[in-house]
Amino acid sequence: MTTALKSAGRVFSGAQPSGNMHLGNYLGAFRNWARLQDEYESIYCVVDMHAITVWQNPAELQNQIREAAAAYMASGVDPSRSILYNQSKVAGHAELAWIFNCVARLGWLNRMTQFKDKAGKNREKASVGLYIYPNLMAADILLYKATHVPVGADQKQHLELTRDIAQKFNNDYGTDLFPMTEPLIMGEGARVMSLRDGSKKMSKSEPSDMTRINLNDDADTLANKIRKARTDAEPLPGNSGALESRPEATNLVGIYAALMDQDRDSVCAEFEGRGFGDFKKALTEVVVTKLAPITGEMARLQKDPAYIDSVLKDGAERASALAEPILAEIKRAVGYI
Ligand code: AMP
Ligand code: TRP
Repeated sequence: MTTALKSAGRVFSGAQPSGNMHLGNYLGAFRNWARLQDEYESIYCVVDMHAITVWQNPAELQNQIREAAAAYMASGVDPSRSILYNQSKVAGHAELAWIFNCVARLGWLNRMTQFKDKAGKNREKASVGLYIYPNLMAADILLYKATHVPVGADQKQHLELTRDIAQKFNNDYGTDLFPMTEPLIMGEGARVMSLRDGSKKMSKSEPSDMTRINLNDDADTLANKIRKARTDAEPLPGNSGALESRPEATNLVGIYAALMDQDRDSVCAEFEGRGFGDFKKALTEVVVTKLAPITGEMARLQKDPAYIDSVLKDGAERASALAEPILAEIKRAVGYI
């Protein structure tokens, strides 16, 4: 493997295989993973242990794990240039998460906004796993001493917690074992919002499919969703500053900008004075053109589950080889014999 020659650092990231891979996952995460894999030694994980913090039907979970792996690959993650595997195959994640359960403080976890959002009003009924999920995420990253973590903006707080855990571990055990991992939150696609409510992020778990652009939507479905996306009656302004109190408009302009590798200002300059009827037509064309190859490749890969499984198995072996000496070092620091 050529991975050892990449000197910019080591990247780790992951997504939950809970179905409905969407445009936010692609723009906030997968596409950036593909862009980083030549410069950084890269490890991309299907985090199936995180997924079961909320109920997953076992038969569906198997397919969702393969769907997630297919989405990574269709977005450009190349298993010969990166390590691609599923979390439950490398036992070190669970082992290190336990140690971090004993390092992280209750007060730290009580501040996690994702837990509050996901648990909702029914906090007493949430799984304990959902509560300690950020400790497992810290373990995912630090099991490999990853230096950089490319994610969407919603994961920023979890990465701050990862640094707090690394720092406290290093202090408590008098070591400099863990690096202070840097988040990589990249470009206009870091925060893609719902098509129906510009104050909510686009999400796998939103019940209405109309809120979301799925990576496996066909062209007609995409056109229909974009046509029905919420907007306002004003035309597009000449610069993005004037979009400030218009969250839905901001989101659609942001999606266009991210897919075209532009910024919001240049999109506004191009469409200044035109209404959203017009802009949505242009957006549909861009979304359909950019997603079609990904959708096609995902479908092709998913027809060959044995191939996907072989990629994951090979990735798990390579990931385990990296994790083993680090986990041994951690156990020595803790005082295990
Ligand atoms: P998840 O779907 O929560 O497992 O997220 C997988 C990756 O996609 C993470 O890096 C998230 O930050 C990113 N992501 C999820 N939803 C969005 C979104 N609406 N906009 C941008 N990035 C997102
Ligand atoms: N918590 C992340 C999410 O829901 C997924 C995740 C788990 C992750 N472990 C990670 C992301 C480690 C980056 C690094 O999006």
